[in-house]
Amino acid sequence: MRLSPACLSRIGRVVLVVVVTVLAVVGTATAMPPPSPVTCDSSRCVLQNSYGVWGDRRDCVIHNLTYPSTEEDLRLAVAYATRNHLKVKVVSKFSHTIPKLACPGEGAGRSLLISTEKYSNNIEIDTSGLVVRVDAGVPLRMLIDRVEEAGLSLVAAPYWEGVSVGGLISTGAHGSSWWGKGGSVHDHVVGMSLILPGKQSEGYAKIVELARNDPLLKAAKVSLGMLGVISKVNLSLERGFKRSVSYDFTDDSRIEDVYTDHAMKHEFADITWYPSRHTAVYRYDDRVPLNTSGDGEFDFLGFRSNSVPISESVRATEKFLENARSVSGKCALASTTLTYKKLIANGLKNGLIFTGYPVIGHQGKMQTSGSCLYSSPSRTDLTCAWDPRINGLFFYETTAIFPANKFGDFIRDVKKLRDMIPDNFCGVDIYNGLLIRFLRASDAYLGQPEDSVVVDFNYYRASQPLTPRLNQDVLEEVEQMAFFKYLARPHWAKNRKLAFQDVNRKYPNFEKFIKAKNQLDPQGMFSSEWSDEIVYGIRGDKFDGCALEGQCICSEDQHCNPDKGYVCEPGRIYSEARVCRYRPSSATTEQLSSPDSRIE
Ligand SMILES: Cc1cc2nc3c(=O)[nH]c(=O)nc-3n(C[C@H](O)[C@H](O)[C@H](O)COP(=O)(O)OP(=O)(O)OC[C@H]3O[C@@H](n4cnc5c(N)ncnc54)[C@H](O)[C@@H]3O)c2cc1C
Ligand SMILES: *[C@@H]1O[C@H](CO)[C@@H](O)[C@H](O)[C@H]1NC(C)=O
Ligand SMILES: *[C@@H]1O[C@H](CO)[C@@H](O)[C@H](O)[C@H]1NC(C)=O
Ligand SMILES: *[C@@H]1O[C@H](CO)[C@@H](O)[C@H](O)[C@H]1NC(C)=O
Repeated sequence: MRLSPACLSRIGRVVLVVVVTVLAVVGTATAMPPPSPVTCDSSRCVLQNSYGVWGDRRDCVIHNLTYPSTEEDLRLAVAYATRNHLKVKVVSKFSHTIPKLACPGEGAGRSLLISTEKYSNNIEIDTSGLVVRVDAGVPLRMLIDRVEEAGLSLVAAPYWEGVSVGGLISTGAHGSSWWGKGGSVHDHVVGMSLILPGKQSEGYAKIVELARNDPLLKAAKVSLGMLGVISKVNLSLERGFKRSVSYDFTDDSRIEDVYTDHAMKHEFADITWYPSRHTAVYRYDDRVPLNTSGDGEFDFLGFRSNSVPISESVRATEKFLENARSVSGKCALASTTLTYKKLIANGLKNGLIFTGYPVIGHQGKMQTSGSCLYSSPSRTDLTCAWDPRINGLFFYETTAIFPANKFGDFIRDVKKLRDMIPDNFCGVDIYNGLLIRFLRASDAYLGQPEDSVVVDFNYYRASQPLTPRLNQDVLEEVEQMAFFKYLARPHWAKNRKLAFQDVNRKYPNFEKFIKAKNQLDPQGMFSSEWSDEIVYGIRGDKFDGCALEGQCICSEDQHCNPDKGYVCEPGRIYSEARVCRYRPSSATTEQLSSPDSRIE
């Protein structure tokens, strides 16, 4: 069957209209909470991330699992591991990190996984000292609500609230700000308790307090779980405040010239760039006094509950457009999605709904969201869109952190690539385009050594590892340009394996981190092959199809999928890149830059 682009784009529009209508109706309802990351059957237990699939699609088998609820139980778990020479990793209730960092590895009887799911009892607020001390398993939303009740605010947080305090600081999670201490949560950490292996006389495990000026805190703030178990975190707070937020949906012609100014003028600025739509969305976001009227919230569209059939039909549509090689169908979807986002201001609400800019609300309601997380026993038909128990969204997430002064050139390069074949970015624009955020220089050894600009983008991941994706060459080129031409640093909690190649060389204080690690955990109890692979930026062996899933950069056609017409070729703008590009051997009348011509 051959479908015309017009027909495909009609299909895309019809599906989207249905999706949008249903979203609007169910958008505020609660949902089935995400699954536990550890699932067991009669023979074994397996750890997964929240997407249900690791980068390499291999299982992480867990041999012993414990759920301590007090600091002493945590200490006893570490003591048990020390006595028995076990490898140890910690995982939070939902495990939202994409790389396999929380997998302890090793064979049966040789490792222990500690879950912080039940370790979330204590939140102590020192109102006059403006500090909160919190158990590492405390969910971000619980912390924010408690702090706001006390009339205070946590200034920095990731946009997604389904994370634990211990997990989010361990991977350098962030919001967006160049003001004050900046957008990274770890730069608001002013103390920490760490549980480390100990001598027999110490009961095989000890609790170490790292105060504000302890040099080890610079290693422990962002540690990828490799320095010991974080039991408590002290975070600095500020007096409660509100924010006033407006989005400007406008053209994208000047992003590269104005991003610095935008971030300097607005405390919580960000920019979302939809390259195929030639649209930039500037977030004007400033602090306002508490007595400013307004009780709005940001309930980000992408983090709302979706009905299962809707999530599944969006996935089915994407899959269909992939199989049909319909770039125009994808562009129609991207266009409809963007129109809807503009209509509902991405999920900002003045009250029950969005009625107009600016939306003013408390910091605790404006920074971070995730309404799809909360359970209602009566609504098991609603989930987060990527819930692995349904056939919903399945995607990659690339997040590159650029030195601020190189970012403009990156944008210029992406624009060149976009202008060669404008529609090839539609696949990214169906998700959130390129989300651009701002981070300040950090003293954390694995934090950003200089003021930086972060870019994230999501894109379709196929259900099967050897299935190539539409325009994957374009996204691979952008990815390699970011990490190897501009030497951007990968976000520790996101990305495909190739992004971490030689990452250790990008951190001037990397050796200091390793020195601290060797001092605190001389036996390497908290290291595994998986965390080593990431932190040391190990390349690993290449195999057939490895480039399709970002497990390698191709150097031969076999690393792509020549049987399906995907071969290894140089990038178009960044010629050092090596990407998997569609070149069907029967390319007689084929117009390679415009796959739609094939199905007209
Ligand atoms: C939908 C979505 C949106 C996101 N949005 C953002 C965003 O806006 N900004 C951003 O920066 N990130 C974002 N992330 C990434 C997220 O912030 C990180 O993945 C974060 O690390 C997840 O925290 P977690 O509690 O799930 O940790 P986990 O995934 O459970 O663990 C993360 C790491 O920390 C270690 N760890 C956890 N707890 C402890 C502890 N107590 N002691 C020692 N080590 C520990 C684990 O071993 C692992 O290495 C997003 C992720 C998703 C899925
Ligand atoms: C698992 O670890 C705990 C320590 O938390 C220990 O008490 C228990 O005996 C272990 N179980 C197995 C099967 O090793
Ligand atoms: C953490 O904060 C609490 C309460 O303010 C304080 O008593 C404690 O000493 C702090 N710990 C560290 C390590 O900074
Ligand atoms: C808010 O409070 C300040 C004093 O703290 C006052 O000057 C200002 O007028 C108040 N604004 C409103 C809108 O009430």
